[in-house]
Amino acid sequence: MFRGAVAVVVLGLLGWSDGFRLGRTQQFGFLPPPKVAVGTSLPPDQWFTQTLDHFNPTDTRTWKQRYFTNATFYKPGGPVFLQINGEGPANPQWMVEGAWISYAKRLNAYLLSLEHRYYGKSLPTEDASTENLIYLSSEQALADLAIFTVSMRKSLGLNKNKWIVFGGSYSGSLAAWYRLKYPHLVHGAVATSAPILAQVNFKEYLEVVKASLATWGEECNSMVYEANRELHLLLQHRVGWQTITQQFRLCEPLDGTNQLDVANLFSVLAGNIEEVVQYNLDNRAFEGVKGTNITIDTVCSVLTNTTLGSPYARYAALNSMFLDVQGEKCLDYTYKSMVDQMQATSWENNTDVGGRTWIYQTCTEFGFYQSSDSSDQPFGNEFPLDFFTRQCQDIFGTKFTTALLNYGVKRTNSIYGGHNLKVTRVVFPNGSIDPWHALGVTTNISSSAPAIFINGTAHCANMYPASPSDLPQLTAAREQIFRLITQWLHQKDV
Ligand SMILES: *[C@@H]1O[C@H](CO)[C@@H](O)[C@H](O)[C@H]1NC(C)=O
Ligand SMILES: *[C@@H]1O[C@H](CO)[C@@H](O)[C@H](O)[C@H]1NC(C)=O
Ligand SMILES: *[C@@H]1O[C@H](CO)[C@@H](O)[C@H](O)[C@H]1NC(C)=O
Ligand SMILES: *[C@@H]1O[C@H](CO)[C@@H](O)[C@H](O)[C@H]1NC(C)=O
Ligand SMILES: *[C@@H]1O[C@H](CO)[C@@H](O)[C@H](O)[C@H]1NC(C)=O
Ligand SMILES: *[C@@H]1O[C@H](CO)[C@@H](O)[C@H](O)[C@H]1NC(C)=O
Ligand SMILES: *[C@@H]1O[C@H](CO)[C@@H](O)[C@H](O)[C@H]1NC(C)=O
Repeated sequence: MFRGAVAVVVLGLLGWSDGFRLGRTQQFGFLPPPKVAVGTSLPPDQWFTQTLDHFNPTDTRTWKQRYFTNATFYKPGGPVFLQINGEGPANPQWMVEGAWISYAKRLNAYLLSLEHRYYGKSLPTEDASTENLIYLSSEQALADLAIFTVSMRKSLGLNKNKWIVFGGSYSGSLAAWYRLKYPHLVHGAVATSAPILAQVNFKEYLEVVKASLATWGEECNSMVYEANRELHLLLQHRVGWQTITQQFRLCEPLDGTNQLDVANLFSVLAGNIEEVVQYNLDNRAFEGVKGTNITIDTVCSVLTNTTLGSPYARYAALNSMFLDVQGEKCLDYTYKSMVDQMQATSWENNTDVGGRTWIYQTCTEFGFYQSSDSSDQPFGNEFPLDFFTRQCQDIFGTKFTTALLNYGVKRTNSIYGGHNLKVTRVVFPNGSIDPWHALGVTTNISSSAPAIFINGTAHCANMYPASPSDLPQLTAAREQIFRLITQWLHQKDV
């Protein structure tokens, strides 16, 4: 029943190149790969025989987990850098580019990267049916890392070396939790933009989006607010539904009485802007990802451009800009369409990011639902928490109740500590305009577990390769992280 060797799935490039839009596509904080020069050779896939269920000693089934290595910079005695991956494919581009590569060069590090189970090509079960997803959890992922680390220490002769782990977003949390739970295997961790607190209703997300748009100018938020207010008024009558269908280029006519479709529409439209804010100016452009040139400045310039008509018309113009850049003719916004896609259990058409497997983790471990429940945000109130929690049942079945979700989140914070995380030698870089910082570590836990505040940068910016246009504080943060790692490497292994 479980999957053998090499999976045949070729996953599409992620981000804006995804063909399908849904209320919760990319906003979970997935980390897209950096750009590499055309013609750069990338390391090949390697496969590690991994245990399916680490918590049932009588289950001896195994599967193949993908990993990458790059020993180019390694000199005997140097550290081992292990990249922890999260809710998307592990991309070999990170093995040749990114801030950690520049650290590896200076510190003679051996580079490893292990793909997360149930993402990319690391598919432990034959499909993603709900029964088969029971082996998908952060705890199983951490145990994968432990078994992998112990095995590589031995097979690569890296037993005496100090291991430093890196992760961003969900995998940033995994980096911190790996150090917490397996301190004998990992010497230090760089946990970038890590949402270490699980939370069902992540309503603060849109508050930070608001604050980030305000860095451009308060008018930008006023226009988002006005546009959503006008949209809401148009929903009150049939003629309005037709207007919305036309102006927002909906694939199917809007029925304003269908609350789930309405919620999904508002959520998708907010999602466009959420994504721009989350990834603003982070050097993630690489071939295939379209639309990285759309920034907060672009969005706010359109929303405040009076020659484009009313705020509502400008919001529609913005939507058209997103559709065009994605090469889509119309906006697929219906709830049914979204749930249908999320119910598909075959690995064949798994687009991964924000896909079925990550939604499963949100329904069982994290929540993180970016609802419209805060009154301190301009996106209206059409996508409340229950719009998200009901998706767990609609996608995975009646067992996946709100009670189950609430317990899962409580359990996650109980086993890892939430904001009371007790760790040493973990650094938490923090971008001020990244909406995820609301669940992250924003103040020093201790002198050995500091937060680094990067004013003006977005999600995971410090992990990307340096660029001449980087803000000086971003450059300084990369250097500060380097100094910390250097200090750690001089410390005894405790
Ligand atoms: C390791 O990374 C360096 C720097 O990008 C690159 O030149 C080299 O080819 C990589 N090695 C492997 C095995 O991919
Ligand atoms: C972004 O780049 C695409 C081409 O890659 C271009 O068509 C589009 O006009 C650009 N948009 C903005 C806002 O610069
Ligand atoms: C406003 O939009 C019009 C029409 O697209 C464009 O020609 C003009 O340059 C825009 N103005 C600003 C300030 O962006
Ligand atoms: C995957 O998508 C293609 C194109 O939409 C479709 O023809 C095929 O049947 C799908 N495969 C599965 C297993 O759903
Ligand atoms: C992290 O960012 C938040 C929001 O900008 C800020 O309030 C906090 O002080 C930052 N953390 C540190 C350690 O500077
Ligand atoms: C947090 O820790 C960093 C690194 O040790 C230090 O530079 C900074 O001053 C600390 N911040 C506070 C508010 O204690
Ligand atoms: C962040 O930078 C802006 C200017 O770019 C400044 O106005 C603001 O005070 C800074 N915030 C912090 C917390 O340093």
